[in-house]
Amino acid sequence: MTKLRNSQGRRGVGLLLNAAAIFVPLFVLIILHPPHASSALATPNTIFTPGLSLNESTYLFSQHISGPIMDTISNKQSSCVQNKQNLVFGEHFVVREAMRVKKSKISLVSLARLVASLWLSGAALSLPTPGDFVETGVYRGGSSILLIRTLLKFDSCNRLFWGFDSFEGLPASVAEDKVGTLSRGSEGQYTATESTFYANLQQYKAFKNPKMMVITKGFFNETLPVAPITHIAFLRLDGDIFTSTWDALVNLYPKVIPGGYIYVDDYDSFNGCKKAVDAYRLQHKISEPMTKIIEGKRPDQKRKREYEAVWWQKKGA
Ligand SMILES: C[S@@+](CC[C@H](N)C(=O)[O-])C[C@H]1O[C@@H](n2cnc3c(N)ncnc32)[C@H](O)[C@@H]1O
Repeated sequence: MTKLRNSQGRRGVGLLLNAAAIFVPLFVLIILHPPHASSALATPNTIFTPGLSLNESTYLFSQHISGPIMDTISNKQSSCVQNKQNLVFGEHFVVREAMRVKKSKISLVSLARLVASLWLSGAALSLPTPGDFVETGVYRGGSSILLIRTLLKFDSCNRLFWGFDSFEGLPASVAEDKVGTLSRGSEGQYTATESTFYANLQQYKAFKNPKMMVITKGFFNETLPVAPITHIAFLRLDGDIFTSTWDALVNLYPKVIPGGYIYVDDYDSFNGCKKAVDAYRLQHKISEPMTKIIEGKRPDQKRKREYEAVWWQKKGA
């Protein structure tokens, strides 16, 4: 009986060892190479930020940038555009730069609008007459980084980047901000300190040539009328509310060169911004069509708003 039990026990251990010899290596193989690993690595999702594939970002780029801008960049080569370090101003540069800022969470601006700002800065660089880049409302520097890096990498005409901000957030809203279904804005909203702005520029390699940037602290109604800007190729408005948009248009629109680009980040998100733009365009008989920057990753993915920002090109290029 004892012998029988012993031989059964030995056979049991043997079976166990055989099974282990087969399953342990298999288990190790599965852990090291999960069946989905190779296909996951091959998808564009892993190249870019999770949840945003290359296809989606190219969709954004092709949707927002109309043919004429692409033609401007590729056909009318301005003598002021330098191909530094063999870098090409194209989809690769635009998507990479915009993704970097979007992932950093410095900016509240959507990827679609970051991409659009970059393309417009490229188009502005290609204009036959040089002009500076201006941003009213720099906040933590998200869009400024994109504009400055475009200049650092492609400009050879010593253009300047002019950035304006109170660094104390929005001023008080007025009657025009309060009527309508869009945002109204509140005093002090979107406050970022000057040191945060500069730290972000440093971190994202946009502070390599401090001489090419003029950053002015203060409220637009005081700073813009005395800013010694003469020629603007790209005017990027991002002050949200009525007075901030109005003051920027009154003081800076006349300085936009013929063919220059105007971008308004908050046209369909803030009541006052829309009113200021519509009133200014009406008063100055500006009939150039505005192009919407459509939000949303794909047509089937719903967003709260179809668009927020618009841009147009000043006549006479
Ligand atoms: C929404 S944030 C700008 C976002 C930024 N352009 C970006 O790309 O991330 C609005 C900024 O405009 C500034 N601002 C708005 N109205 C202003 C005014 N009248 N004078 C000075 N700064 C103003 C605020 O302080 C705030 O930093």
